[in-house]
Amino acid sequence: VSRADESRGSSTDERAALRRDARAMMEAHWVDAGYTAPNATVYPWQWLWDSCFHALVWCELGDADRAVRELENALAMQDAHGFVPHMDYHGLPDVHADFWGRRRTSSITQPPMYGHAVAELVRRGVDVPDVLVERAGRGLAFLLRHRARHLGTGLVVLCHPWESGADDSPRWDDACPDGFDTARWRVRKGELMATILRSPHGAPVANGAFVVASAGFNALVAFNARELVTVTGDARLAREADELAERLAARWDEELGTWVDGGAFASGSGRVRTIDALLPTLVVPDGPEVDRAFAAMLDPDAYGGPCGPDGVHHDESVYAPGSYWRGPAWPQLSYLVWRAAERRGMTTTAAALGEALVAGARRSGLAEYWDAATGAGSGAVPQSWAALAVLVADVPRPGPRPGDAAPGPAGSGAAR
Ligand code: GLC
Repeated sequence: VSRADESRGSSTDERAALRRDARAMMEAHWVDAGYTAPNATVYPWQWLWDSCFHALVWCELGDADRAVRELENALAMQDAHGFVPHMDYHGLPDVHADFWGRRRTSSITQPPMYGHAVAELVRRGVDVPDVLVERAGRGLAFLLRHRARHLGTGLVVLCHPWESGADDSPRWDDACPDGFDTARWRVRKGELMATILRSPHGAPVANGAFVVASAGFNALVAFNARELVTVTGDARLAREADELAERLAARWDEELGTWVDGGAFASGSGRVRTIDALLPTLVVPDGPEVDRAFAAMLDPDAYGGPCGPDGVHHDESVYAPGSYWRGPAWPQLSYLVWRAAERRGMTTTAAALGEALVAGARRSGLAEYWDAATGAGSGAVPQSWAALAVLVADVPRPGPRPGDAAPGPAGSGAAR
Protein backbone atom coordinates (compact mmCIF):
# COMPACT_ATOMS: atom_id res chain seq x y z
CA VAL A 1 0.00 0.00 0.00
CA SER A 2 1.56 3.24 -1.11
CA ARG A 3 1.45 6.44 0.91
CA ALA A 4 -1.04 7.89 -1.52
CA ASP A 5 -3.32 4.94 -0.85
CA GLU A 6 -2.99 5.26 2.91
CA SER A 7 -4.55 8.68 2.65
CA ARG A 8 -7.73 7.00 1.38
CA GLY A 9 -10.13 4.89 3.41
CA SER A 10 -9.76 1.83 1.22
CA SER A 11 -6.58 0.27 -0.14
CA THR A 12 -5.76 -0.24 -3.80
CA ASP A 13 -6.48 -3.96 -3.40
CA GLU A 14 -9.85 -3.29 -1.84
CA ARG A 15 -10.81 -0.88 -4.59
CA ALA A 16 -9.66 -3.34 -7.24
CA ALA A 17 -11.76 -6.06 -5.59
CA LEU A 18 -14.79 -3.76 -5.54
CA ARG A 19 -14.39 -3.10 -9.26
CA ARG A 20 -14.03 -6.81 -9.99
CA ASP A 21 -17.13 -7.71 -7.99
CA ALA A 22 -19.13 -4.86 -9.49
CA ARG A 23 -18.19 -5.89 -13.02
CA ALA A 24 -19.04 -9.55 -12.38
CA MET A 25 -22.42 -8.56 -10.97
CA MET A 26 -23.20 -6.17 -13.84
CA GLU A 27 -22.27 -8.86 -16.39
CA ALA A 28 -24.46 -11.40 -14.60
CA HIS A 29 -27.40 -8.94 -14.47
CA TRP A 30 -27.14 -7.92 -18.14
CA VAL A 31 -30.27 -8.93 -20.06
CA ASP A 32 -30.07 -9.54 -23.83
CA ALA A 33 -32.91 -7.11 -24.48
CA GLY A 34 -30.35 -4.40 -23.65
CA TYR A 35 -30.54 -3.41 -20.01
CA THR A 36 -29.24 -4.43 -16.59
CA ALA A 37 -31.71 -6.05 -14.20
CA PRO A 38 -31.48 -4.43 -10.76
CA ASN A 39 -31.44 -7.98 -9.39
CA ALA A 40 -31.85 -11.18 -11.41
CA THR A 41 -34.69 -12.65 -9.35
CA VAL A 42 -36.26 -9.89 -7.24
CA TYR A 43 -36.18 -7.17 -9.93
CA PRO A 44 -35.82 -8.79 -13.37
CA TRP A 45 -37.42 -5.94 -15.39
CA GLN A 46 -36.07 -2.60 -16.54
CA TRP A 47 -36.55 0.33 -14.15
CA LEU A 48 -36.01 3.90 -15.29
CA TRP A 49 -33.82 5.50 -12.64
CA ASP A 50 -31.91 2.26 -12.00
CA SER A 51 -31.00 2.13 -15.70
CA CYS A 52 -29.72 5.72 -15.63
CA PHE A 53 -27.44 4.78 -12.72
CA HIS A 54 -26.39 1.58 -14.51
CA ALA A 55 -25.38 3.65 -17.55
CA LEU A 56 -22.95 5.59 -15.31
CA VAL A 57 -21.54 2.33 -13.97
CA TRP A 58 -21.08 0.78 -17.43
CA CYS A 59 -19.33 3.90 -18.59
CA GLU A 60 -17.01 3.86 -15.56
CA LEU A 61 -16.28 0.17 -16.29
CA GLY A 62 -15.26 1.12 -19.82
CA ASP A 63 -18.29 -0.25 -21.67
CA ALA A 64 -19.76 2.84 -23.33
CA ASP A 65 -21.79 0.70 -25.75
CA ARG A 66 -23.79 -0.89 -22.98
CA ALA A 67 -24.13 2.48 -21.22
CA VAL A 68 -25.71 4.03 -24.31
CA ARG A 69 -27.80 0.99 -25.11
CA GLU A 70 -29.27 0.81 -21.60
CA LEU A 71 -30.11 4.51 -21.66
CA GLU A 72 -31.68 4.20 -25.11
CA ASN A 73 -33.86 1.38 -23.83
CA ALA A 74 -34.81 3.31 -20.70
CA LEU A 75 -36.19 6.11 -22.88
CA ALA A 76 -37.47 3.98 -25.75
CA MET A 77 -41.05 3.78 -24.51
CA GLN A 78 -41.40 7.55 -24.07
CA ASP A 79 -44.71 8.81 -25.46
CA ALA A 80 -45.17 11.60 -28.01
CA HIS A 81 -45.58 14.16 -25.21
CA GLY A 82 -42.39 13.27 -23.38
CA PHE A 83 -43.71 11.06 -20.56
CA VAL A 84 -41.30 8.18 -19.77
CA PRO A 85 -42.75 5.06 -18.08
CA HIS A 86 -40.73 3.82 -15.12
CA MET A 87 -40.86 0.10 -15.96
CA ASP A 88 -40.50 -1.91 -19.13
CA TYR A 89 -41.34 -5.63 -19.21
CA HIS A 90 -39.77 -6.04 -22.66
CA GLY A 91 -40.48 -9.55 -24.01
CA LEU A 92 -43.29 -10.22 -21.51
CA PRO A 93 -45.70 -7.35 -22.26
CA ASP A 94 -48.67 -8.86 -20.44
CA VAL A 95 -47.02 -8.89 -17.02
CA HIS A 96 -49.11 -6.59 -14.76
CA ALA A 97 -50.83 -5.15 -17.85
CA ASP A 98 -54.18 -5.09 -16.00
CA PHE A 99 -52.64 -3.24 -13.11
CA TRP A 100 -51.00 -0.53 -15.23
CA GLY A 101 -53.83 -0.30 -17.74
CA ARG A 102 -51.45 -0.85 -20.65
CA ARG A 103 -49.21 -3.53 -22.09
CA ARG A 104 -45.44 -3.71 -21.77
CA THR A 105 -44.79 -0.68 -19.54
CA SER A 106 -45.96 0.93 -16.33
CA SER A 107 -48.03 4.10 -16.53
CA ILE A 108 -46.15 6.29 -14.02
CA THR A 109 -42.61 7.68 -14.08
CA GLN A 110 -39.55 7.88 -11.77
CA PRO A 111 -36.86 10.54 -11.03
CA PRO A 112 -35.52 11.78 -14.41
CA MET A 113 -31.89 10.74 -13.83
CA TYR A 114 -31.37 10.63 -17.61
CA GLY A 115 -30.30 14.30 -17.60
CA HIS A 116 -27.31 13.52 -15.40
CA ALA A 117 -26.57 10.24 -17.21
CA VAL A 118 -26.47 11.91 -20.64
CA ALA A 119 -24.32 14.79 -19.35
CA GLU A 120 -21.89 12.49 -17.55
CA LEU A 121 -21.48 10.27 -20.62
CA VAL A 122 -20.79 13.33 -22.76
CA ARG A 123 -18.25 14.64 -20.21
CA ARG A 124 -16.52 11.28 -20.39
CA GLY A 125 -16.20 11.55 -24.15
CA VAL A 126 -18.92 9.08 -25.12
CA ASP A 127 -20.64 9.69 -28.43
CA VAL A 128 -24.24 10.03 -27.21
CA PRO A 129 -26.75 9.81 -30.09
CA ASP A 130 -28.73 13.02 -30.73
CA VAL A 131 -32.00 11.18 -30.38
CA LEU A 132 -31.09 10.26 -26.81
CA VAL A 133 -30.27 13.86 -25.90
CA GLU A 134 -33.51 14.96 -27.49
CA ARG A 135 -35.56 12.33 -25.61
CA ALA A 136 -33.98 13.36 -22.32
CA GLY A 137 -34.96 16.97 -23.04
CA ARG A 138 -38.54 16.01 -23.82
CA GLY A 139 -38.75 13.90 -20.65
CA LEU A 140 -37.72 16.87 -18.51
CA ALA A 141 -39.99 19.22 -20.45
CA PHE A 142 -42.93 16.89 -19.75
CA LEU A 143 -42.28 17.11 -16.01
CA LEU A 144 -41.66 20.86 -16.02
CA ARG A 145 -44.46 21.89 -18.41
CA HIS A 146 -47.17 19.23 -18.40
CA ARG A 147 -47.00 17.73 -14.93
CA ALA A 148 -49.25 19.63 -12.46
CA ARG A 149 -47.70 22.03 -9.96
CA HIS A 150 -48.70 22.36 -6.35
CA LEU A 151 -50.38 25.76 -6.14
CA GLY A 152 -48.85 27.05 -2.92
CA THR A 153 -45.22 26.16 -3.58
CA GLY A 154 -45.07 26.01 -7.38
CA LEU A 155 -43.31 22.65 -7.14
CA VAL A 156 -43.91 19.71 -9.48
CA VAL A 157 -46.22 17.07 -7.95
CA LEU A 158 -45.84 13.32 -7.83
CA CYS A 159 -48.70 11.21 -9.19
CA HIS A 160 -47.89 8.21 -7.02
CA PRO A 161 -45.47 7.35 -4.18
CA TRP A 162 -43.60 4.99 -6.54
CA GLU A 163 -42.69 7.94 -8.75
CA SER A 164 -40.34 9.16 -6.02
CA GLY A 165 -38.39 5.90 -6.16
CA ALA A 166 -38.77 5.79 -2.35
CA ASP A 167 -41.74 3.47 -2.12
CA ASP A 168 -42.33 3.06 1.62
CA SER A 169 -40.76 6.31 2.81
CA PRO A 170 -42.28 7.73 6.00
CA ARG A 171 -42.83 10.95 4.02
CA TRP A 172 -45.99 9.38 2.59
CA ASP A 173 -47.35 8.03 5.89
CA ASP A 174 -50.21 10.54 5.94
CA ALA A 175 -51.55 8.80 2.81
CA CYS A 176 -51.85 5.47 4.65
CA PRO A 177 -55.17 5.07 6.45
CA ASP A 178 -54.68 4.78 10.25
CA GLY A 179 -50.94 5.31 9.93
CA PHE A 180 -48.26 3.26 8.23
CA ASP A 181 -48.56 -0.48 8.13
CA THR A 182 -46.84 -2.55 5.43
CA ALA A 183 -49.95 -4.51 4.42
CA ARG A 184 -52.30 -1.51 4.47
CA TRP A 185 -49.77 0.55 2.51
CA ARG A 186 -49.52 -2.13 -0.17
CA VAL A 187 -53.30 -1.98 -0.66
CA ARG A 188 -53.29 1.82 -0.58
CA LYS A 189 -50.52 2.05 -3.20
CA GLY A 190 -52.72 -0.04 -5.49
CA GLU A 191 -55.73 2.19 -4.85
CA LEU A 192 -53.67 5.31 -5.54
CA MET A 193 -53.14 4.08 -9.11
CA ALA A 194 -56.85 4.49 -9.79
CA THR A 195 -56.99 8.17 -8.75
CA ILE A 196 -54.23 9.35 -11.13
CA LEU A 197 -55.44 12.04 -13.52
CA ARG A 198 -54.22 11.50 -17.05
CA SER A 199 -53.86 13.66 -20.11
CA PRO A 200 -56.04 12.65 -23.09
CA HIS A 201 -53.15 10.52 -24.36
CA GLY A 202 -52.67 8.74 -21.03
CA ALA A 203 -49.70 10.52 -19.45
CA PRO A 204 -49.97 10.87 -15.65
CA VAL A 205 -50.32 14.55 -14.67
CA ALA A 206 -51.78 14.74 -11.13
CA ASN A 207 -53.40 12.74 -8.36
CA GLY A 208 -56.11 14.34 -6.20
CA ALA A 209 -55.69 11.64 -3.54
CA PHE A 210 -51.92 12.13 -3.32
CA VAL A 211 -51.02 15.80 -3.60
CA VAL A 212 -47.30 15.68 -2.83
CA ALA A 213 -44.64 18.07 -4.11
CA SER A 214 -41.61 16.14 -2.88
CA ALA A 215 -38.48 18.14 -2.08
CA GLY A 216 -36.30 15.24 -3.23
CA PHE A 217 -38.11 14.67 -6.52
CA ASN A 218 -38.08 18.38 -7.37
CA ALA A 219 -34.39 18.59 -6.58
CA LEU A 220 -33.76 15.76 -9.04
CA VAL A 221 -35.89 17.43 -11.72
CA ALA A 222 -33.92 20.69 -11.35
CA PHE A 223 -30.55 18.90 -11.14
CA ASN A 224 -31.17 16.74 -14.20
CA ALA A 225 -32.46 19.71 -16.19
CA ARG A 226 -29.30 21.69 -15.37
CA GLU A 227 -27.16 18.71 -16.26
CA LEU A 228 -28.81 18.36 -19.66
CA VAL A 229 -28.38 22.07 -20.27
CA THR A 230 -24.61 21.56 -20.08
CA VAL A 231 -25.01 19.45 -23.23
CA THR A 232 -27.77 21.30 -25.11
CA GLY A 233 -27.41 24.89 -23.92
CA ASP A 234 -31.22 25.07 -23.85
CA ALA A 235 -31.88 28.48 -22.27
CA ARG A 236 -35.55 27.83 -21.54
CA LEU A 237 -34.77 24.60 -19.69
CA ALA A 238 -32.04 26.42 -17.76
CA ARG A 239 -34.50 29.12 -16.65
CA GLU A 240 -37.06 26.53 -15.61
CA ALA A 241 -34.47 24.66 -13.58
CA ASP A 242 -33.34 27.86 -11.85
CA GLU A 243 -36.89 28.78 -11.05
CA LEU A 244 -37.57 25.35 -9.54
CA ALA A 245 -34.36 25.51 -7.50
CA GLU A 246 -35.46 28.88 -6.12
CA ARG A 247 -38.85 27.54 -5.11
CA LEU A 248 -37.14 24.61 -3.47
CA ALA A 249 -34.76 26.83 -1.51
CA ALA A 250 -37.84 28.43 0.06
CA ARG A 251 -38.83 25.04 1.52
CA TRP A 252 -35.93 24.99 4.04
CA ASP A 253 -37.13 24.49 7.61
CA GLU A 254 -34.65 26.00 10.03
CA GLU A 255 -35.99 24.19 13.06
CA LEU A 256 -35.83 20.72 11.52
CA GLY A 257 -32.73 21.36 9.43
CA THR A 258 -34.26 19.94 6.26
CA TRP A 259 -36.19 20.97 3.18
CA VAL A 260 -39.85 19.98 3.46
CA ASP A 261 -42.35 18.83 0.86
CA GLY A 262 -45.16 20.96 -0.45
CA GLY A 263 -48.70 19.63 -0.72
CA ALA A 264 -51.28 17.94 1.47
CA PHE A 265 -48.79 16.51 3.97
CA ALA A 266 -46.64 19.63 4.32
CA SER A 267 -47.41 19.97 8.01
CA GLY A 268 -47.41 16.21 8.67
CA SER A 269 -45.40 13.35 7.21
CA GLY A 270 -43.97 15.61 4.51
CA ARG A 271 -41.67 17.02 7.22
CA VAL A 272 -40.12 13.74 8.31
CA ARG A 273 -36.33 14.03 8.03
CA THR A 274 -35.30 11.63 5.27
CA ILE A 275 -32.14 11.71 3.19
CA ASP A 276 -33.95 12.38 -0.11
CA ALA A 277 -35.18 15.66 1.41
CA LEU A 278 -31.51 16.74 1.54
CA LEU A 279 -31.12 16.32 -2.23
CA PRO A 280 -31.74 20.06 -2.71
CA THR A 281 -28.00 20.23 -1.83
CA LEU A 282 -27.64 19.38 -5.54
CA VAL A 283 -29.29 22.62 -6.68
CA VAL A 284 -29.78 25.35 -4.10
CA PRO A 285 -27.16 28.12 -3.74
CA ASP A 286 -24.32 27.81 -1.19
CA GLY A 287 -25.33 28.87 2.29
CA PRO A 288 -25.55 27.82 5.92
CA GLU A 289 -28.47 25.44 5.14
CA VAL A 290 -26.28 23.49 2.76
CA ASP A 291 -23.45 23.25 5.30
CA ARG A 292 -25.88 22.10 7.96
CA ALA A 293 -27.38 19.46 5.66
CA PHE A 294 -23.96 17.97 4.84
CA ALA A 295 -22.89 18.04 8.47
CA ALA A 296 -26.05 16.10 9.41
CA MET A 297 -25.33 13.47 6.74
CA LEU A 298 -22.01 12.72 8.46
CA ASP A 299 -23.17 13.11 12.06
CA PRO A 300 -23.91 9.70 13.70
CA ASP A 301 -26.57 11.41 15.85
CA ALA A 302 -28.37 12.50 12.68
CA TYR A 303 -28.05 10.34 9.51
CA GLY A 304 -24.39 9.40 9.64
CA GLY A 305 -22.48 6.16 10.02
CA PRO A 306 -19.36 4.50 8.61
CA CYS A 307 -21.51 3.19 5.71
CA GLY A 308 -24.00 6.06 5.68
CA PRO A 309 -25.85 8.30 5.46
CA ASP A 310 -28.93 6.39 6.58
CA GLY A 311 -32.20 7.06 4.81
CA VAL A 312 -34.01 8.41 7.89
CA HIS A 313 -32.77 10.74 10.64
CA HIS A 314 -32.02 8.69 13.76
CA ASP A 315 -34.17 10.93 15.99
CA GLU A 316 -37.35 10.36 14.00
CA SER A 317 -39.84 8.17 15.89
CA VAL A 318 -40.45 6.22 12.65
CA TYR A 319 -36.72 5.45 12.16
CA ALA A 320 -36.53 1.68 11.72
CA PRO A 321 -33.03 0.37 10.91
CA GLY A 322 -33.15 -2.45 8.39
CA SER A 323 -36.69 -1.79 7.25
CA TYR A 324 -37.43 -1.01 3.58
CA TRP A 325 -37.21 2.77 2.95
CA ARG A 326 -37.71 3.50 6.66
CA GLY A 327 -34.15 3.62 7.96
CA PRO A 328 -31.27 2.13 5.99
CA ALA A 329 -28.76 3.71 3.61
CA TRP A 330 -29.41 3.57 -0.16
CA PRO A 331 -26.42 3.54 -2.54
CA GLN A 332 -28.06 5.69 -5.23
CA LEU A 333 -28.89 8.39 -2.68
CA SER A 334 -25.39 8.19 -1.19
CA TYR A 335 -24.02 8.63 -4.71
CA LEU A 336 -26.21 11.71 -5.25
CA VAL A 337 -25.21 13.46 -2.02
CA TRP A 338 -21.56 12.57 -2.73
CA ARG A 339 -22.03 14.20 -6.14
CA ALA A 340 -23.59 17.28 -4.50
CA ALA A 341 -20.58 17.73 -2.18
CA GLU A 342 -18.10 17.03 -4.97
CA ARG A 343 -19.73 19.64 -7.24
CA ARG A 344 -19.50 22.27 -4.52
CA GLY A 345 -15.80 21.58 -4.09
CA MET A 346 -16.36 20.30 -0.54
CA THR A 347 -13.47 17.88 -0.84
CA THR A 348 -13.39 16.54 2.71
CA THR A 349 -17.14 16.07 2.89
CA ALA A 350 -17.23 14.38 -0.51
CA ALA A 351 -14.36 12.08 0.49
CA ALA A 352 -16.15 11.05 3.69
CA LEU A 353 -19.42 10.37 1.83
CA GLY A 354 -17.60 8.50 -0.92
CA GLU A 355 -15.67 6.38 1.52
CA ALA A 356 -18.86 5.45 3.35
CA LEU A 357 -20.48 4.41 0.07
CA VAL A 358 -17.52 2.20 -0.78
CA ALA A 359 -17.50 0.68 2.71
CA GLY A 360 -21.24 -0.03 2.57
CA ALA A 361 -21.08 -1.54 -0.90
CA ARG A 362 -18.24 -3.85 0.14
CA ARG A 363 -19.54 -4.91 3.55
CA SER A 364 -23.08 -5.51 2.29
CA GLY A 365 -21.95 -7.54 -0.73
CA LEU A 366 -23.37 -4.85 -3.08
CA ALA A 367 -26.81 -4.92 -1.48
CA GLU A 368 -29.93 -2.98 -2.49
CA TYR A 369 -29.64 -1.07 0.83
CA TRP A 370 -27.73 -1.45 4.09
CA ASP A 371 -27.36 -0.32 7.69
CA ALA A 372 -25.20 2.79 7.86
CA ALA A 373 -23.65 1.71 11.16
CA THR A 374 -22.68 -1.86 10.26
CA GLY A 375 -22.98 -2.20 6.50
CA ALA A 376 -25.29 -5.20 6.99
CA GLY A 377 -27.10 -5.58 3.67
CA SER A 378 -30.84 -6.03 3.15
CA GLY A 379 -33.32 -6.30 0.31
CA ALA A 380 -31.99 -7.78 -2.92
CA VAL A 381 -28.33 -8.86 -2.81
CA PRO A 382 -26.56 -8.11 -5.05
CA GLN A 383 -28.31 -5.10 -6.56
CA SER A 384 -26.87 -3.37 -9.61
CA TRP A 385 -27.04 0.23 -8.35
CA ALA A 386 -24.67 -0.61 -5.47
CA ALA A 387 -21.99 -0.66 -8.19
CA LEU A 388 -22.21 3.16 -8.18
CA ALA A 389 -19.52 2.81 -5.50
CA VAL A 390 -16.98 2.32 -8.32
CA LEU A 391 -17.58 5.90 -9.42
CA VAL A 392 -16.50 7.33 -6.10
CA ALA A 393 -13.82 4.77 -5.20
CA ASP A 394 -11.02 6.37 -7.15
CA VAL A 395 -11.51 9.96 -6.16
CA PRO A 396 -8.30 11.17 -4.50
CA ARG A 397 -8.55 12.44 -1.00
CA PRO A 398 -6.23 15.36 -0.36
CA GLY A 399 -5.92 16.76 3.14
CA PRO A 400 -8.52 19.26 4.33
CA ARG A 401 -8.40 22.55 2.50
CA PRO A 402 -8.89 25.77 4.36
CA GLY A 403 -12.61 26.40 4.43
CA ASP A 404 -13.80 22.86 3.61
CA ALA A 405 -16.48 21.65 6.00
CA ALA A 406 -14.99 19.25 8.52
CA PRO A 407 -16.92 15.98 8.85
CA GLY A 408 -19.26 15.72 11.82
CA PRO A 409 -21.35 18.31 13.63
CA ALA A 410 -18.34 20.59 14.00
CA GLY A 411 -18.54 21.20 10.25
CA SER A 412 -21.90 22.86 10.65
CA GLY A 413 -21.78 26.41 9.44
CA ALA A 414 -18.25 26.15 8.08
CA ALA A 415 -17.67 28.12 4.92
CA ARG A 416 -16.15 26.48 1.87
C1 GLC B 1 -37.84 -0.62 -5.63
C2 GLC B 1 -37.34 0.79 -5.32
C3 GLC B 1 -37.26 1.60 -6.59
C4 GLC B 1 -36.39 0.87 -7.59
C5 GLC B 1 -36.85 -0.57 -7.82
C6 GLC B 1 -35.87 -1.39 -8.64
O1 GLC B 1 -39.13 -0.59 -6.12
O2 GLC B 1 -38.17 1.42 -4.36
O3 GLC B 1 -36.74 2.88 -6.34
O4 GLC B 1 -36.36 1.55 -8.80
O5 GLC B 1 -36.99 -1.23 -6.57
O6 GLC B 1 -34.61 -1.35 -8.05
